[in-house]
Amino acid sequence: MRPHSLYPRSDLVTILPSASGIHNLPKGEAKLPLRQAGLFAEDPLQRNILKARNLAKRISSPGGELTILDGLSLTVSEGETVAIRGVSGSGKSTLLGLLAGLDLPTSGSVEIDGKELYALDEDGRAALRARMVGFVFQSFQLLPAFTALENVMLPLELAAHSAPGSAATEILQRVGLGGRLQHTPAQLSGGEQQRVAIARAFAAEPKLLLADEPTGNLDTRTGEHIAELLFALNREKGTTLILVTHDQHLAHGCDRILALENGSLMATTSDGETAC
Ligand SMILES: Nc1ncnc2c1ncn2[C@@H]1O[C@H](COP(=O)(O)OP(=O)(O)OP(=O)(O)O)[C@@H](O)[C@H]1O
Ligand SMILES: [Mg+2]
Repeated sequence: MRPHSLYPRSDLVTILPSASGIHNLPKGEAKLPLRQAGLFAEDPLQRNILKARNLAKRISSPGGELTILDGLSLTVSEGETVAIRGVSGSGKSTLLGLLAGLDLPTSGSVEIDGKELYALDEDGRAALRARMVGFVFQSFQLLPAFTALENVMLPLELAAHSAPGSAATEILQRVGLGGRLQHTPAQLSGGEQQRVAIARAFAAEPKLLLADEPTGNLDTRTGEHIAELLFALNREKGTTLILVTHDQHLAHGCDRILALENGSLMATTSDGETAC
């Protein structure tokens, strides 16, 4: 195993969101406005793991100011599963990055487990992620010089896991990559790289898993298998899932499906189904 110290810390922080802290330390849908759908109603018996309030993200571009998110709010209870959908460019990846504190909003706030994310400095946010958050990037962001096994071992080693090699091997086997442990990302297919990225995000058993199109590069059968794994993690460990996805199987397995439109989140209902 190459020591992760060979990798510049700044790269690790970008690629592996938890790194810095450890070192320092459907069809026929009707849309309902979020407030009307009761998504702000907080169940007193449920602990909220995430609260985003009035998140706005504006970027200046040569054509003028671009509003990506426009005062968006979202409350997610511990153990809940939420799917977020929206057309390309609607701001889904931007939103996930803000919820993880990987990016900063123009205005608004995010609380994770009662802690104000943006009141923390970069190292503080990374430390919070290290303790609580797994993140699957849309573009995988695997360390190119590391094998699949080493990529998945990394968060376990950073978290001082007692047996990172066997734990990483087991989780790679669960995503169907037991025969690819020693392959580097360049030696893996897109779908295999995606599964390594999912295994890496699972590995340290985060309380909150944010995943950006986690089955986007997978065939239907493999995608269903990964969806089952995600829901098993939710059932067995109580992991809260926030998933950006166009995958019907994955979205319909979630407690709620939200649509990101014009910078705001809307609840969606499917024909004959309870509002998700
Ligand atoms: N740094 C940036 N500078 C300028 N524009 C940006 C920047 N980051 C994102 N955008 C723009 O913000 C919008 C939202 O981007 P984002 O990646 O969040 O969309 P998305 O919903 O995840 O799309 P996709 O489904 O294609 O992944 C896009 O129009 C994108 O071009
Ligand atoms: Mg995206």
